Amino acid sequence: MTLRGTCSSCAQRHGAQRIRPLKSDMRFDTSMSRKALIAANWKMYKTPAEAKAFVDAFLPLVAGHTRDEIALFPSPVLLPTVVEAARGSNVAVGAQNIHFAEEGAFTGETSANQLTAIGGTHTLIGHSERRQYFAETDEIVNKKLHTAIKHGLVPVVCIGEVLAEREGGLTESVLKTQINGGFAGIKGLAAEVISSIVIAYEPVWAIGTGKTATPEMAADAHRIIRAEVASLLGADVAANMRILYGGSVKPDNATALIGQEEIDGALVGGASLKPDSFTGIVKY
Ligand code: 13P
Repeated sequence: MTLRGTCSSCAQRHGAQRIRPLKSDMRFDTSMSRKALIAANWKMYKTPAEAKAFVDAFLPLVAGHTRDEIALFPSPVLLPTVVEAARGSNVAVGAQNIHFAEEGAFTGETSANQLTAIGGTHTLIGHSERRQYFAETDEIVNKKLHTAIKHGLVPVVCIGEVLAEREGGLTESVLKTQINGGFAGIKGLAAEVISSIVIAYEPVWAIGTGKTATPEMAADAHRIIRAEVASLLGADVAANMRILYGGSVKPDNATALIGQEEIDGALVGGASLKPDSFTGIVKY
């Protein structure tokens, strides 16, 4: 079992068994550990040459690092270069977005089939910038999630509240709405398939702002998310599902955040663009 974080109630380092339930009838299975996933979202940065230089510098820095999973999410035009450069290494590569359709007249979009054909294994879904600038709704997120699963991709479903929602005391209801909308129709799938879904909690007010949720604030949100996943999909699935934190994660705050029992890794924007800085987070 991978042991991370220290439990506030018993000062032990252990796995999922000490998750503080938000509902009194909640039970969590402790049989599987959650291996942390440290993921780089490069957004719309880097040319192919810069992406190749990153991977060439980064791979030796993380060679042999097996404690955590590592994944890079570059722009679509960079994907073949990054997949090729990372081939055979401990670094996975995924897309920042896929379309939900198998194929068709969707100018500017990338299909799951195109992604897997070039060796991509993961995809982000519903990043807050997609929701904010490209009008992605929970319904679209849900369709993309089903498509990603169908194609064997590891989906990283992004959720999180904007500042006004946090200040208005709406964080919990926003997260629950996003989970219920995004995960519609998932319940009938096999438990191993459902558990392969990753959630990234990214409070929108913390993205690219330098304002990080405190580890306690992040862990509180993660507990709400896990409890909602448990009530929707079952306690065992919830106990095994990885929930990442994203929003101004840096080498100097990564340990405090990922060290939280509830936080199963990080989705990193700005600080993932330089090999040294991202390595500092991978090796929190
Ligand atoms: P920053 O790490 O730059 O705040 O970005 C977070 C993010 O949006 C990752 O998906």
